[in-house]
Amino acid sequence: MKGIWKYNQWLPAVEEQAQVTLGEGQTPLIESKLLSKEIGLKKLFFKLENVNPTGSYKDRFAAVAVSGLMSGGIKNCFATSSGNTGAALAAYCAASAIQCFVMVVDGAPIGKLEQMLCYGAHVLMVKGFGKDLTTTSELMRLYAETAECLGSPVQISAYKHSPMGMSGVQTIAYEIAEELSLQQLHIFSPAGGGGLLFALAKGFNHIASGDSRHGMPKVHCVQPEGNDTIATPLRSQKKHAQALNESTTAISGLQVPNILDGDDVISACSKSGGTGFVVTDDAVYNAQRLLSSREGIFCEPAGAVAFAGVIEALRAGEIKKEDPVVCLVTGSGFKDPDSMKRMASGTAYNYFKTINETFEFIRSNV
Ligand SMILES: Cc1ncc(COP(=O)(O)O)c(C=O)c1O
Repeated sequence: MKGIWKYNQWLPAVEEQAQVTLGEGQTPLIESKLLSKEIGLKKLFFKLENVNPTGSYKDRFAAVAVSGLMSGGIKNCFATSSGNTGAALAAYCAASAIQCFVMVVDGAPIGKLEQMLCYGAHVLMVKGFGKDLTTTSELMRLYAETAECLGSPVQISAYKHSPMGMSGVQTIAYEIAEELSLQQLHIFSPAGGGGLLFALAKGFNHIASGDSRHGMPKVHCVQPEGNDTIATPLRSQKKHAQALNESTTAISGLQVPNILDGDDVISACSKSGGTGFVVTDDAVYNAQRLLSSREGIFCEPAGAVAFAGVIEALRAGEIKKEDPVVCLVTGSGFKDPDSMKRMASGTAYNYFKTINETFEFIRSNV
């Protein structure tokens, strides 16, 4: 069985003919060559979720969620998304002849919106959705009611709403455990609503409970300071995540002012020995630039948040240089044309009027 269904026995039961896959999962876990030395870590690994079929880890969610719809003979999919869940669901729905409606966060990057449109989804954007708490809560309530009436509950990449799809995300942990010893390992992951982090912690717990020799890695939460709903409460040993009236980060995917899986993340991360890190948007853009220019990893800003967290953890002396670290890279750089422009600013391609000029340029630059 291909894709995520390799982990069939750990996923919700879906008959084989209803299992949808586009070849998600089995993403590379590569060891850093340059950045590890530059920042002073002995063993730094990047889990490249950006190479999934639609460019983010959300394909693991979509594969299981859409298989659930197929299994139930459901012909419509309703979802909310900051961009990547929508793109992933739109693709898996396209491959399953299911109609897909995506309520997107106001201001989602054009690359993600166009990707959904290419797969044939209906893309719906409401002013303020995903930004201010009142609009977000009210719209969510009405959307959930409507979708329930139409026989297909809203798909949201959070355990609180869509535990079936989220079980697909746990496979990231199974894959890491196949390649690395979990003892002493530190895992850094970005968090918006926290579903991804909770999936990782659940996945590692699952493995540790099956065979205690595996041990449990320390699972750390990294958030941009404009959406610090989980990281600081976790660091200050609070039990509950903290909702915001408004998310002020510009990092697409991590603008989640309301509480989804935050309380569960706090409990799971602190049990693992992990903590929370807060980074500025500028630190994220810097990490994104370093990943592409010094490691060849092309990710969207949210995909660089975990690495920004690793830099912060080292600066604060909270991880040691011998500690093995896995950093999740969650989404592709192609998703966000504005952030590509930001990364490339100050550089330009060379346009030559003559062939001779071209070779003069090469000679003078080697
Ligand atoms: C690229 C990327 N990384 C991280 C996240 C955060 O996931 P979660 O909201 O489950 O914490 C998202 C969510 O949309 C995302 O798109």
